[in-house]
Amino acid sequence: MSVDNNPTIFIGIAEPDATQFDAWSHQPLLVSIEQGGIDWPSSCRNGTCRTCFSKLERGQVRYEIDWPGLSAEEKEEGYVLPCVAYPCSDVVLQHQSF
Ligand code: FES
Repeated sequence: MSVDNNPTIFIGIAEPDATQFDAWSHQPLLVSIEQGGIDWPSSCRNGTCRTCFSKLERGQVRYEIDWPGLSAEEKEEGYVLPCVAYPCSDVVLQHQSF
């Protein structure tokens, strides 16, 4: 996890229920989602299993590992892995199994 001495709280929205959560810039979105009391599928929590595979409907994320388990096409289409994705803005996320 990165050292962020000045974390920012962005607004996170988890679809399809539009449940709001605090999306902290210094921690992966999955952690913020869970702290918000939202049940989000996950397993490996390191960007390999794709259980948390989600569509970023709005917003931007960054990764701390060079190439999390997404193809270039998936990234281009806005898919993200919340267990290793850190928010850079307000975000709207839709899990792909919901
Ligand atoms: S929980 Fe495995 S890729 Fe996110």
